[in-house]
Amino acid sequence: MYVYGGPPTSLLACRPLSVDSLTASLDDGRRAALEAVRSLALEAGVAVYLVGGPVRDALLGSPLLDLDFSVVGDAIGLARRVAEVLDGRVTTHARFGTATVAFGERRIDLVTARRETYAQPGQLPQVAPGSIADDLARRDFTINAMALPLSPDGPGILELHGGLDDLEAGLIRSLHRGSFVDDPTRLLRAVRYEQRFGFRIEQDSLADMTACVAGGYMDGVSGDRWRHELERILEEHYPGPALSRASELGLLAGIHPSLAKASGGGLRKLSQLTGESRLPIEPEADDWLAALFSSLTFPEAESVIQGLRLSGRRAVLARDTIAVRESEPEIRAASQRLSELSGLLSGLEPASVTAWAKLTDDSSVAAALRRYADELRHVRPCLSGETLLEMGVPQGPLVGAILAGLRDARLDGLVNSKDEEAALAQEWLSRHRAKISGQSLL
Ligand code: CTP
Repeated sequence: MYVYGGPPTSLLACRPLSVDSLTASLDDGRRAALEAVRSLALEAGVAVYLVGGPVRDALLGSPLLDLDFSVVGDAIGLARRVAEVLDGRVTTHARFGTATVAFGERRIDLVTARRETYAQPGQLPQVAPGSIADDLARRDFTINAMALPLSPDGPGILELHGGLDDLEAGLIRSLHRGSFVDDPTRLLRAVRYEQRFGFRIEQDSLADMTACVAGGYMDGVSGDRWRHELERILEEHYPGPALSRASELGLLAGIHPSLAKASGGGLRKLSQLTGESRLPIEPEADDWLAALFSSLTFPEAESVIQGLRLSGRRAVLARDTIAVRESEPEIRAASQRLSELSGLLSGLEPASVTAWAKLTDDSSVAAALRRYADELRHVRPCLSGETLLEMGVPQGPLVGAILAGLRDARLDGLVNSKDEEAALAQEWLSRHRAKISGQSLL
């Protein structure tokens, strides 16, 4: 066991980490949470550690967002008392002895220190209460396996696996050779951390990753767990490099064979564009998700969507990106006929339209899509449905039809003012009446 507390000898060590220095760097809400955890743990006589990501980030000098605590004892009971003090809400997972306390915009996680054993590769582990050493030993990478005791006279950082050295050397290293087989979601986590921090995956760990992929162990993980880890990458400040690295290591193909197409298509395109700084804005998470689907056929995309159990807006975004791609010839033809262009795109998720504007190789299509997204889709007639009713338009589908017609007329420059819209609506209404009375004569 190595307890860090010696003289500063390196860049990292020049940032000595104590609970007090860390507390001072927190905003008011997080400081109150840390103080509450610390004092209630002391009262209950249980040892509590700040653990994992926040310790790593504090050592790197990065701002701390989520605070994670490991409790050698009942984390759920402690979380309930903390929630009372913070006026927060607790969510618990009894199977793992974990709890999240949400308060205001913030949240903290408390886990019961535990041992883990994996009966089946890729399945969730069996857990049993354990020591803080057990709780560090079950973790994914050395840089995430460090703890800071919250006790007043705590000994400083507790690190048992060389996390400080690896943090300093910029290495992502798993704790043991079976780590990726036990939990293949760590494959994606490795590339996420590697690219987020500009680190390198250590040689043996990289070999273990390759063996894990080649051994087919990725197949044992549920679509939900892959989706969750992919979403974590998409939530990164800049997901591109991690996705490209995941693709290069065969991880995307391991999640679903059709995702093998992503690297040659959308990912490369988005990465190139960003590299050349030709984009007016950085690609957003939606663009990267669209890029993953941008070379797929509809049936391939549907199979990925089902496999990952992608739902809601993300599933729509994936499908509509392909729909925009498939409509390219019509979009190109309609690029100067704005009502037609708008009609082609209006039922589609706007984020798919802006994503394809970045992904397409056709600059005229890109310009048309951007114009639709920035300008055309916001165009509305001046007249309201209410005004049309006052003009004598009968309640029913005709109101919507006239409004849509007026919007198209505005898009095509046929009307430019409220009066011109009113005149056009009046003309359509008269024609409609004539048609109706004509019909009634028959
Ligand atoms: N962990 C793990 N294996 C996983 C997922 C998580 O060992 N498959 C461990 C890691 O040690 C990690 C901790 O659980 O530090 C918390 O996981 P998570 O919330 O995903 O990480 P954070 O540190 O909170 O977030 P991040 O690292 O992305 O900043």
